[in-house]
Amino acid sequence: MAVNKKILITGGAGFIGSHLVRRFVNNYSNYHIYNLDVLNYAGNLENLKDIEHKDHYTFLRGDITNEVYINSIFNAYKFDAVIHLAAESHVDRSIKNPLGFAKTNILGTMVLLNAFVSLWKNDWKGKRFYQISTDEVYGSLGASGLFKETTPYNPNSPYSASKASSDHFVRAFGETYGMPYVISNCSNNYGPNQFPEKLIPLFINNIINKKPLPVYGDGNYTRDWLYVKDHAMAIDLVFHRGKNHETYNIGGFNEYKNIDLVKLLCKQMDKKLGRDFGTSEKLITYVKDRPGHDLRYAIDASKINNELGWAPSLTFEAGLSKTIDWYLDNKAWLENVTSGDHMNYYTNQYADI
Ligand code: NAD
Ligand code: TYD
Repeated sequence: MAVNKKILITGGAGFIGSHLVRRFVNNYSNYHIYNLDVLNYAGNLENLKDIEHKDHYTFLRGDITNEVYINSIFNAYKFDAVIHLAAESHVDRSIKNPLGFAKTNILGTMVLLNAFVSLWKNDWKGKRFYQISTDEVYGSLGASGLFKETTPYNPNSPYSASKASSDHFVRAFGETYGMPYVISNCSNNYGPNQFPEKLIPLFINNIINKKPLPVYGDGNYTRDWLYVKDHAMAIDLVFHRGKNHETYNIGGFNEYKNIDLVKLLCKQMDKKLGRDFGTSEKLITYVKDRPGHDLRYAIDASKINNELGWAPSLTFEAGLSKTIDWYLDNKAWLENVTSGDHMNYYTNQYADI
């Protein structure tokens, strides 16, 4: 099929980005997909081996903060749309390196916005900037309530503050320059290809290797978990059918306390690894809490559900089981990514266990 749209996906070699790139390349042969990624510790082209040979897919290695480079690719390829995922994405790393997060997440987003506006400011028809954001920008909930699209931003970590700031710039460019945009704020993702320093893949890796499972504080923190392919499906819908200048919350309708999640993971893994029930739970180790740790996140995803007909396709138990199977079947991937930078970070972050 002839290509009728050029789409830039940033951060497409990372966890969520790689699932999104695969979905778009496989489902839309009328789009040319350009995947721009700097390939930091979380970006891995191994994630996209199955689609990299396709004619309507191009990988571009580059840094979103490099204004000269970004302007040059916008001028060369004239992207009709941008789906922006490239970011520093781990709260614990943001506590250690807030400036690095400000640079990538705020400045990098601004460089992309500037390039997009410079290219299309006189002709916005059929153009769109889609900002992929997080529920963490809303801050922390108490024991009850849900984040709605109208909940005021109240970020607590350098990561969430940098994402909040970049969302504000996207809105501002929409209001100031008439740039058509859409934003979605999603809850915690899990699934294949997630770098093993976020809770679920880190703990899967530690259980495989019989290493301690470092639960922060008392473990009574709540997150709302969504399978990554369900997020990619939601992004596809919002990109094609979401209204300009709107925000959509995406969540799993699936709240779990960290400690309950970890116990479920231990149970499923004991069974799959043929270990006695209770073996992995013995690895649970309570460690010093994360500073500024948000108590609870939970999304009200009724807008995307009502307006676009989206709903998660999997229960958490089924998604978790598929995720564990993927990591057990892809030990080479896991070993490859748990070297170098990851090991330095790990030793530093968990020095006391
Ligand atoms: P990730 O860390 O796995 O991937 C981020 C990708 O961006 C990596 O491939 C990395 O190499 C690339 N990148 C980083 N800095 C870059 C730069 N300067 N220039 C170009 N590329 C760069 O993250 P993820 O979990 O896939 O998250 C993707 C996006 O989704 C982020 O914007 C994040 O804020 C958002 N998000 C994540 C979650 C989640 O639970 N993981 C939930 C909601 C929203
Ligand atoms: P994480 O996967 O880092 O995502 P986020 O901070 O973006 O929600 O953490 C999920 C929850 O798990 C969060 O409450 C922090 C907690 N956690 C631990 O208890 N131990 C760990 O080693 C990690 C990485 C996270």
